[in-house]
Amino acid sequence: MSLLAEIREKASKLGKTIVLPEGTEERTLQAIKGIIDQKIATPILLGDESEIKGMAGKIGADLTGAEIINPARAPFFDDFVQAFYEMRKSKGVDLDKAKKTMLDPLFFASMMVKMGKADGEVAGAENTTGNVLRPALQIIKTAPGITAVSGAFIVIVPDCEFGANGTFVFADCAVTIDPTAEELAAFAKASVATATDLCGIEEPHIGMLSFSTKGSASHAMVDKVTQATAIAKEKYPELKIDGEFQFDAAIVPKVGASKAPGSDVAGQCNVLIFPDINSGNIGYKIAQRLGKAEAIGPILQGIAKPVNDLSRGCSVEDIVNVVAMTAVRA
Ligand code: ACO
Repeated sequence: MSLLAEIREKASKLGKTIVLPEGTEERTLQAIKGIIDQKIATPILLGDESEIKGMAGKIGADLTGAEIINPARAPFFDDFVQAFYEMRKSKGVDLDKAKKTMLDPLFFASMMVKMGKADGEVAGAENTTGNVLRPALQIIKTAPGITAVSGAFIVIVPDCEFGANGTFVFADCAVTIDPTAEELAAFAKASVATATDLCGIEEPHIGMLSFSTKGSASHAMVDKVTQATAIAKEKYPELKIDGEFQFDAAIVPKVGASKAPGSDVAGQCNVLIFPDINSGNIGYKIAQRLGKAEAIGPILQGIAKPVNDLSRGCSVEDIVNVVAMTAVRA
């Protein structure tokens, strides 16, 4: 069974509720049937009921089993406005602004997750990553002990003897533009849950990546990665983590043994933490386009409750899969 089929099967046993704020978006509506038929989750669509049903009728989408909530008419709308006002008044938000903000489905959806009215959120088929993330960061916030959110990709490389039978977690490829050493350490911790819960990797081995291996080069950029490794080792002693490693020293046993002798992680890494979003984003795309790897993500890590961002080029199938991943993380 493929990894995605396994994730869909896991989700089908959990009975979670996932809110989809882009309630009139065509692929989202078409995904509802797959989500319901495979029992992946109970989907909640946000928006005006007649508009949603009108669009579904126009494109022939079957919404049986989905709930529809119009934020403006929700019985808990006023409670959400008050909660948002309390949360953000120190940032200059007044009641009027809170009301306007809660009418925005992306903010309303994040508040539903925060307030336990949904177990997770999936959006991004028609909104940018930034617009999906901002409400989640403001309302749901980061998980305890995590200072920065990261976006991981599960990278499955065909015919590959490295990693966990060719499966890797790459992070951060999508969110934090210029991470500190402390934040890189947090990405390592958060990526372990992605490796175990979603990829079924039993023994995550984490490599902190650089252009240097164990002091082969010296530069402030290398120092940041060595500091991140030291912070992660101290803060999360349960992790199997080491660095700084060049990519080959991290994943190829022979290279790891020669460049980082004595490391019990070098050459065996299946979780790869990139030094910044440039290298992470470019890295997963190289694996995908030149290495013909399957790249699944971004999977948002470190938010207190699961929210996932879709690519605006996503397919109906992608939406079903991301809803399943979100349900599994909920
Ligand atoms: N981790 C945790 N919290 C954060 C982060 C972060 N990385 N960034 C911002 N926040 C918090 C802020 O502290 C703030 O909290 P507060 O308002 O309670 O004080 C809140 O989030 C909102 O912050 P803003 O400053 O309004 O948000 P910002 O404009 O900085 O946007 C964002 C944050 C959306 C994550 C931005 O950094 C971003 O756009 N990142 C890159 C996204 C991207 O384009 N990725 C590449 C494409 S994806 C792909 O290719 C797969």
